Amino acid sequence: MKLLIINGPNLNMLGIREPNIYGRQDYPALVAYIENCCAAIGAECKVFQSNHEGAIVDEIQAAYGTADAIVINPAAYTHTSVAILDALKAVGLPAVEVHLSNIYEREEFRHISYPSLACLKSIYGKGFEGYREAIEYLNDYLKECRK
Ligand code: DQA
Repeated sequence: MKLLIINGPNLNMLGIREPNIYGRQDYPALVAYIENCCAAIGAECKVFQSNHEGAIVDEIQAAYGTADAIVINPAAYTHTSVAILDALKAVGLPAVEVHLSNIYEREEFRHISYPSLACLKSIYGKGFEGYREAIEYLNDYLKECRK
């Protein structure tokens, strides 16, 4: 399985930004965690982070024909981006949305997720562990599809 993992704006500030919400581990620690999860199940992965909506759209489009599935934490774009939703729909790859925090227990504006409309599953409030769940879910999902 070839996985594309996308992290949106300000996730590169992990460890510094609002540690009471996002924890004290930094972004390189998250990337290492994701890479270990993928290695454990023999999956290849590319981990991409951008603070720019268009760059995220470009990366999703580039996954067409090159990746088998997408894990995405669109960060703040979750609550605003029809462009990211449309890109996910355009490529039609199985996708899972992840949030470190529980967006449904935070401000009301965080309760709306546009990308979730193109995702098989949303995982939130589990910190780094949410990425593991997403990776394993997509691995199992693709195995089922290939049966
Ligand atoms: C986030 C939640 C979003 O509401 C927020 O804008 C983020 C991070 C999370 O991982 O909990 O930047 O996606």
